[in-house]
Amino acid sequence: MAETLPPPAGIDVLEAMYTTRAMRRLKPDPIPAGTLRAILDAAIRGPSGGNSQGWAFLAVQDAELKQGLERIYQPLLEALFHEGGPYYKPLHSDDAELAARTKKMADSASHLAHHMHEAPVIIVPCVRTGGRPTDISTGSSIYPAVQNLMIAARAYGIGSTLTTVHRLRQDEVRTLLGIPSDWETAALIPLGYPKGRWGVAARRPVEEVAFGDRWGSPLP
Ligand SMILES: Cc1cc2nc3c(=O)[nH]c(=O)nc-3n(C[C@H](O)[C@H](O)[C@H](O)COP(=O)(O)O)c2cc1C
Repeated sequence: MAETLPPPAGIDVLEAMYTTRAMRRLKPDPIPAGTLRAILDAAIRGPSGGNSQGWAFLAVQDAELKQGLERIYQPLLEALFHEGGPYYKPLHSDDAELAARTKKMADSASHLAHHMHEAPVIIVPCVRTGGRPTDISTGSSIYPAVQNLMIAARAYGIGSTLTTVHRLRQDEVRTLLGIPSDWETAALIPLGYPKGRWGVAARRPVEEVAFGDRWGSPLP
């Protein structure tokens, strides 16, 4: 079958890349079936090792299943910011700027954790492991498609957040959604039209993180 391009989405590819950031406050408005399908069709254009395409994408829209996912996700997310969690120290840091930045993320993440079920769709990308132990290569055959999915969603004006904390209890997600045990759930990605505005994702400057030729040499 001939592969064909979809109609242009009306946004420049670089603009979509720069403004695809975690959109955690979403409207409950439904995503048209054709748009959802187009987003998934863009996702599967991503690469996988040997073009194995050992992936599956569940588009969860059923209200009870979305509630079920939220019930698994919410306590795990909250634990990240409580004592013993990885974000507890930065949240209570003496460095006021770090504490404020972490608080902003905590508030936004907590909002999503309490409203995840309101997202019209939660995408669960899965990758087949064949029962083998997982490592960075396992993820490298699913996360390029996940990024494609989020950029395509952005192109249609739909916000997303890549979340992975559910993986601590992914067996419960498998049971809820009937996912076979030799498949890993790579993420829960709530999709929806954002309440806020799009903006350029803030990152450390490229000069700090990219080198020319050798580690530590400045970029030309
Ligand atoms: C591997 C990975 C796991 C993530 N897990 C979660 C998560 O469980 N919950 C959440 O709210 N955000 C999660 N995020 C979103 C990040 O917090 C977010 O991408 C980062 O803070 C940058 O946000 P920005 O793109 O809005 O600047 C995750 C992102 C990545 C790449």
